[in-house]
Amino acid sequence: MKKLILSLLLFTKLFADQGTGVESLSPELRALLSQEMLALEKGMHSIFSDIISGNYEEIVITAEQIQNSFILKQKLSPSQRKELQTKLPKAFIHLDQGFHESAGELVNAAEFEDKKLSIEIFTKMTNTCVKCHSTYAKSRFPNF
Ligand code: HEC
Repeated sequence: MKKLILSLLLFTKLFADQGTGVESLSPELRALLSQEMLALEKGMHSIFSDIISGNYEEIVITAEQIQNSFILKQKLSPSQRKELQTKLPKAFIHLDQGFHESAGELVNAAEFEDKKLSIEIFTKMTNTCVKCHSTYAKSRFPNF
């Protein structure tokens, strides 16, 4: 009986860990992810203000910062990088990569002071926040 309960517990734990992968990250990596997210939110707020006031130079600076804040590229030890790659689903990594590519596109659009394109890319980036959160951030944002 004890054995059965133990295997049940193990099974439940394995099952729970499979979740989205985000919950199974080490506390340090999860804190880094959270830090990146808060920086992203701040960056997106200022890009919004800069778009509506035609402040393209600032958009270029912020979008570049977002492009380089890529968690997979930054301040990670080799074992942390491996942890991210093994624990996070491929679709998550793909969304994150796509998002940072959009930030690069926004840098170009803002350098050309292209208002229409800047707005389009900003909207695309916002959609990616929502898309990723509604699949992978449900424990942080239960309303999704
Ligand atoms: C590739 C996936 C992905 C993308 C893209 C993404 N996020 Fe997140 N975000 C997450 C996950 C996962 C969490 C929850 C992390 C957790 O539960 O520890 C999160 C959490 C957050 C948080 C809460 C952080 C905290 O600890 O309080 C904010 C704010 C946030 N994201 C903003 C954004 C914004 C703004 C964008 C788009 C510009 C964005 N995110 C794009 C995956 C993503």
